[in-house]
Amino acid sequence: MKHFDISESSQRERIQTVIYDGAEGASMAVANEIRDIIKERQKSGKNAVLGLATGSTPVRLYRELIRMHRDEGLSFANVITFNLDEYYGLSGDHPESYRRFMQDQLFDHVDIPEANTHVPDGLVAREEVFASCSAYEEAINAAGGIDIQILGIGRTGHIGFNEPGSGPDSRTRLVTLDSLTRRDAARDFLGEQNVPRHAITMGVGTILDAKKVFLLAWGEAKAEVIAQAVEETPTDIIPASFLQSHANCVFNVDRSAASQLTRVLHPWLVGPVEWSAPMTRKAVQWLARKVNKPLLKLVDEDYSENGMGDLLTEKGSSYDLNINLFNITQHTITGWPGGKPGADDSHRPERATPHPKRSLILSPEPLDDVFCLGGTMHRLANQGHEVTIAYQTSGNLAVPDTEVRRAIELIIELGEERQADTEAKFARTVEKHLDAKGQFGADTAEVRHLKGLIRRSEARSSARLLGLDISHLSFLDLPFYENGRYRRFSMTAEDVSIMKALLEKIQPHQIFATGLGHDPLSVPAISFEVLREALKQCEGSDWLKECNIWLYRGLGTEWEAHEIDMAVPLSPDELKNKIQGIYQHQTQRSQSPSSSQKGPSDAWNLAEQVNRNTAEIYDALGLAEYEAIEGFKLWNA
Ligand code: F6R
Repeated sequence: MKHFDISESSQRERIQTVIYDGAEGASMAVANEIRDIIKERQKSGKNAVLGLATGSTPVRLYRELIRMHRDEGLSFANVITFNLDEYYGLSGDHPESYRRFMQDQLFDHVDIPEANTHVPDGLVAREEVFASCSAYEEAINAAGGIDIQILGIGRTGHIGFNEPGSGPDSRTRLVTLDSLTRRDAARDFLGEQNVPRHAITMGVGTILDAKKVFLLAWGEAKAEVIAQAVEETPTDIIPASFLQSHANCVFNVDRSAASQLTRVLHPWLVGPVEWSAPMTRKAVQWLARKVNKPLLKLVDEDYSENGMGDLLTEKGSSYDLNINLFNITQHTITGWPGGKPGADDSHRPERATPHPKRSLILSPEPLDDVFCLGGTMHRLANQGHEVTIAYQTSGNLAVPDTEVRRAIELIIELGEERQADTEAKFARTVEKHLDAKGQFGADTAEVRHLKGLIRRSEARSSARLLGLDISHLSFLDLPFYENGRYRRFSMTAEDVSIMKALLEKIQPHQIFATGLGHDPLSVPAISFEVLREALKQCEGSDWLKECNIWLYRGLGTEWEAHEIDMAVPLSPDELKNKIQGIYQHQTQRSQSPSSSQKGPSDAWNLAEQVNRNTAEIYDALGLAEYEAIEGFKLWNA
């Protein structure tokens, strides 16, 4: 049942889905709807009832509502809110409770009366949970029902905390959290073991009762689940798919979150397309994988039977198409990521001159570098390039307290042995701060400093193993990261000026960076924004005109084969060496590698798996068989 106009290209979509360039525009659109209903109700002396979500997704929306309150005088005095969920077992003042989150992100900055804000009670006794949940539903009804419900979506397909298995009739209740959901929250709670196992959530049925629903989603990590919710038959495996039955539901997504929708992923399957070079490459590589043949063995029937007959007509024969695509893919492969001196570079991803190149590798946190391009870094250093690795943030938030305590003991003991009072005194201070903060308190500057130093030592050890000159490591400690907890970051002018100073100092011939397309509040995404702003400020500089910017995709993920402009093969020994490099990041062993991918929480296996997988894809397309490949995409800013 569709309740909206569809176009040819969106014919597979069962929920109205609007694709925005970024989270900003999509959030503004919803903020405007909220402002409109608040004002409309004000005129008739009535309340506007909002259903609210927490997490990274709605943060931009809340910032915009706060701005409207501050700059435009939008009053929230007539607003009543009901939040979707709360962790069971957390009090409202726990730093990771959803009540605290709402106070910090919205309620404390607008004029909403405290009594009008409702978040499920996470501390209600087990035997009173049912009554408390029923009362929550009654309160929603008594307020007149929810006018606008805001949703994010989890990678399990959950809305609220309705995990797979939640039916369309489910109501507010106590639920058990999925292991993937708990892993995604691990960083917020400084370890998966600290993430609550249960939560109280509105049910899918409760959500479906709202008059209007907006689901927001950003970043490539959400792309798969968005496509499933929007295009597949509703199923309790993806609870968000039940929104298909809602008469007034819109998904506002950014380009990255939309990337797995048929109209974006395989547009030739839903209508005529313009066969540009990138589109042709994408389609032919897709075809080869679909029919399980190497590129050079595709025949006319493969094209015509898979919705690509018009491409054949336009380009002549499968023979020409195959050869062309084979050559394009072949030319992405290079063992010389800094260019091959003295070689004909007309078909090489990176130009031969100048040689050596000043190469700048940007790593949002220590570990991103070796994890994603450890093999390439090793090659660059080996081939005589001047490699600087700049760690954009300190990464101190990801160091477990147990690791600092180990360092403290070492320093104290050494200090006592050597009568080095200052160091031992500092270590004792850090110890006191740790004791005082409890399990979830914020770290003091001293604790963060020591944690940052631990990550620096790991980064050095890893870089040394990869053959890099460690005097060329640069630790930027960007300030945006230093004042917070995960999901609460925002870029500052100081971040940009630090990055700009680095660029001007190095004047790189090539930069390796990541973060484009990630969840906009994530560390890689903000680190990338900082780079983008700094580059803008360097516009016109001679060095920038000559500089190639190579994007790596990020922890535990890799570009699709058709997106790769430079594929750097790793030999079995190089792969082993890279894994050894990753091992140096001891403190990260127990951490989830990132919130941007599925898979085992053990970062170690994931890097190897991803690089081997890319090599297998190249092999399946009929290119040479390598042990592993690291892929890069050229960024045209
Ligand atoms: C939050 C909630 C969850 C989140 C979802 C996405 O109140 O109910 O469904 O919306 O887990 O989380 P983020 O936005 O952090 O990716």
